[in-house]
Amino acid sequence: MIRSSIIITAVTIAIMSIAASAQATEGKAIYDKTCATCHNTGLAGAPKLGDKAAWKDRIQQGNDALYQSAINGKGVMPPKGGNASLGEGDIKAAVDYMVSQGQ
Ligand code: HEC
Repeated sequence: MIRSSIIITAVTIAIMSIAASAQATEGKAIYDKTCATCHNTGLAGAPKLGDKAAWKDRIQQGNDALYQSAINGKGVMPPKGGNASLGEGDIKAAVDYMVSQGQ
C-alpha cells in the first residue's frame, strides 16, 4: 500500500513536470511567432524580451494584469498581439514566457 502510493506520487510529479516544460516550450513558440516582432526590438515602445528594467514595473502589476493587457491590447499593442486565432491560454503561455525572461 505505502509502496504503491509512493509510485503514484512519483508518476504524478513526473507528469506534472513534463506538462510544465511543454507549456514553457509552447509559450516560447507562440512568442517567437506572434510577439517577437515588437518585443525583440522594442518596436513602438514595446518592453523588450529580457530587459529587466523595462519589465520590473510591469511584472509588479501581477500576471493577471499582464494577461489582460496582452489579451485586450494596450497602447499600440493590438489585442492578442494581432493574432486573433490565439486562445487565452496561448496568450497566457506567451506572457509567462516573457515574464520568466524579464525577472
Ligand atoms: C505591434 C507590436 C506588438 C506586438 C505584435 C505585441 N506587442 Fe506586447 N506590447 C507592445 C507595446 C508597444 C507594449 C507597451 C504598451 C504600453 O505600455 O503602452 C506592449 C506591452 C506588452 C505587455 C505589458 C503589458 C502591461 O500591462 O504592462 C505584455 C505582457 C505584452 N506586451 C505581451 C505581448 C504578447 C504575449 C504578445 C504576443 C501574443 C505581444 N505582446 C505582441 C507591442 C506589441
